[in-house]
Amino acid sequence: MSGFDRLAPVYDVLAGVAFAGRIHASQVELLPRLPRCPRALVVGGGTGRFLVELLESGLVDRVVSLDASAAMNRRAAARLGSLAGRVQLRTGGIESLGPLERFDLVVTHCFLDLFSEAELEAIVRRLDAALVPGGSWLFGDFSVDGPGWPRSLRRGVVRALYAFFRATCGIAARRLPDFDRAFAVVRLDPVVTTRRAGGLLRSVVYRKRGV
Ligand SMILES: C[S@@+](CC[C@H](N)C(=O)[O-])C[C@H]1O[C@@H](n2cnc3c(N)ncnc32)[C@H](O)[C@@H]1O
Repeated sequence: MSGFDRLAPVYDVLAGVAFAGRIHASQVELLPRLPRCPRALVVGGGTGRFLVELLESGLVDRVVSLDASAAMNRRAAARLGSLAGRVQLRTGGIESLGPLERFDLVVTHCFLDLFSEAELEAIVRRLDAALVPGGSWLFGDFSVDGPGWPRSLRRGVVRALYAFFRATCGIAARRLPDFDRAFAVVRLDPVVTTRRAGGLLRSVVYRKRGV
């Protein structure tokens, strides 16, 4: 059982209340900036709220969605309804990707923050390997740097979030890893960045070099 199983029934309500809908807004606001991406991979997709909007955007044809939590995937399946035929929900992590699977889009929202620096680099390298040259990566996560609210305030919020997820889901991570450094080791260039909630939420579209 994944530590996130017990959070699945209340995840959307908690996230919505805690951030007044800004997390979801930050995740979908860059969809209009993406090119068409027939094959998409969503990692740590949770309850499927973003998945539905991605499919309804008309940008993608088919999606593979990986989540370690069976309970999260059950909620996603229930939410997908008639869209379900275009999605393969896999209960597992990146190890469930086949060596030859390739995607035009990778999406990680509030997922990469669950890992240490060393784990993060390995995950980014593995996902980059599954992304075609010229493909896009939609990344959204917490940030304590850059313009916005004072760093100390953002650090306080992030510290409280890690304490919450350690207590409820048993995650091992204690602080935000250096996302920018991890993306810099692969051939991904930031194309557009947005910030919400005083810069606490950052979304970036990266494009993979090569075409
Ligand atoms: C903080 S939630 C984010 C959910 C959603 N992306 C969002 O932004 O609302 C992290 C998600 O990652 C999943 N997860 C945790 N570890 C994972 C792993 N190693 N592989 C795949 N999914 C994982 C959890 O089950 C959970 O659904």
